[in-house]
Amino acid sequence: MAQTRRQFLQQVGITGGAGVMYSAMGAIGLAGVAETPAYAAPTRMELNGRGKHVVILGAGIAGLTSAYELGKAGYKVTLLEARKRPGGRNWTVRGGTEEKDLHGNTQRAKFSSGQYMNAGPARIPQHHVTLDYCRELGVAIEPFVNQNADAYLYREGTTALSSKPIRHRTAKADVYGYVSELLAKATDQGALDSALTATDKDALITFLRSFGSIGTKEEGFKYTGTSGRRGYEVEPGAGLEGGTTAAPYGLSDVLASGVGNYFSFEFGWDQAMMMFQPVGGMDRIPYAFEQAIGREKIQYGAQVLGLRNTTEGVTVTYSTGSRPRELKADYAICTLPPHIAATIPSNLPTDIVGALQYARPTNAGKIGIEYSRRWWELDHRIYGGITNSNLDLVNMWYPSTGFHSDRGTMIGYYNTGANATAYGALTPAARLERALAQGAKIHGDVYTKDVKAAFSVDWAGTEHSRAAWVGWTSQTDGVYAKLLDATGNIYFAGDHLSHAIAWQHGAMVSARATVTALHTRVTSR
Ligand code: ALA
Repeated sequence: MAQTRRQFLQQVGITGGAGVMYSAMGAIGLAGVAETPAYAAPTRMELNGRGKHVVILGAGIAGLTSAYELGKAGYKVTLLEARKRPGGRNWTVRGGTEEKDLHGNTQRAKFSSGQYMNAGPARIPQHHVTLDYCRELGVAIEPFVNQNADAYLYREGTTALSSKPIRHRTAKADVYGYVSELLAKATDQGALDSALTATDKDALITFLRSFGSIGTKEEGFKYTGTSGRRGYEVEPGAGLEGGTTAAPYGLSDVLASGVGNYFSFEFGWDQAMMMFQPVGGMDRIPYAFEQAIGREKIQYGAQVLGLRNTTEGVTVTYSTGSRPRELKADYAICTLPPHIAATIPSNLPTDIVGALQYARPTNAGKIGIEYSRRWWELDHRIYGGITNSNLDLVNMWYPSTGFHSDRGTMIGYYNTGANATAYGALTPAARLERALAQGAKIHGDVYTKDVKAAFSVDWAGTEHSRAAWVGWTSQTDGVYAKLLDATGNIYFAGDHLSHAIAWQHGAMVSARATVTALHTRVTSR
């Protein structure tokens, strides 16, 4: 059984505590208070020449944000990054990108010029500080289409609507219509009299007639599907052509199909439109940070071998080749994924190593497929957005850019957990073959034609990440919290130390909190 949206969100780690926090923030937002957390960058005036040297492990989003913010006040920063590029999981794959994964597969992307896939983060909500950094760093953004009424829902199974691609708009019209009809009838027949006054009942029925496009009381509040919301068999047109609607699917079939369970995704604090992406690829963000920080402050290809608190500060050993090197600094900020940081030889106390080990890595996988014909626009009239399914590919994303051009790159699967690991276990060629066979069930043969290039990522099998993100059994039982304070001169930062796990925003706000703590310590001496 493929995962539900709720399971997906649980894997992402954005239900529970985070959800509660964000709804609270939303309520504050409605009251007119800014929704993004208050933050003031360290300043030169505050530092007043007391500048210290901070070594930052990892040039992902948390490391880059830390270095950039500390640099504003004049701290000396050195970033050690194992990869040959900035960004960490913020990774845009273009023609020429080469990667050998931990399974032993080497892929070299053959995407055409201008084509790319965002293998990691790919969408940014309006309230995330990620957009503030885009503004500050001059990274141009464009809309990312996270919902599209004309994208599909597709579920295999044994119901009357199984294995039929159903447009989101059709599913919504039928689910909202029938639910409204039932609730209006129940309200009118007095079933809710203990909860509703006569005025409430009138107001509720008025709402339901609009929400579900249902008939009047005299018509039995019947949902007939004739409003056009669910689509047309013959579209309204010129002159006398008023359009022909099809009868809605049957009530029991709609309920049994499970399509209604997909709609709440777009209500999510972090998933509601409008959403955005950088023009030209998500890695425009790390490269803009790199430029702002100074390329010379980042040591690429630097594998951390050891981390020690000393009486004077910290000592980091690392290798950029055969010979280990040693770097001494006043402080360290470790932004490595916790499950990797836990394996680095250090003199960290066992309870801190235990807290790092407490993180539960989650996998995610994606494939980018470049087509030389935008069949989703030409044949299906889908311009961006996401098709959801209970197939193992789970989500398919149509590109939010390049409309009406002659080629485009789809995300053929974006899945998590066991589905991601099942695809990850295949060779890249077999992943593509499977993705095409599955996607053709929804889109027809066109899905397997005009394929020009593909590249897939299995985050658990990706060196230096070994997961897409992590979850915590608890963020309130005291174990996770140990990583929020400095251990001697060593600090930690990353999206894993936030309530926006699996978002760049989480890495950025965590980095800001760490920078603030470090700066407060330095300036209060
Ligand atoms: N933030 C990630 C997403 O939106 C998990 O898919």
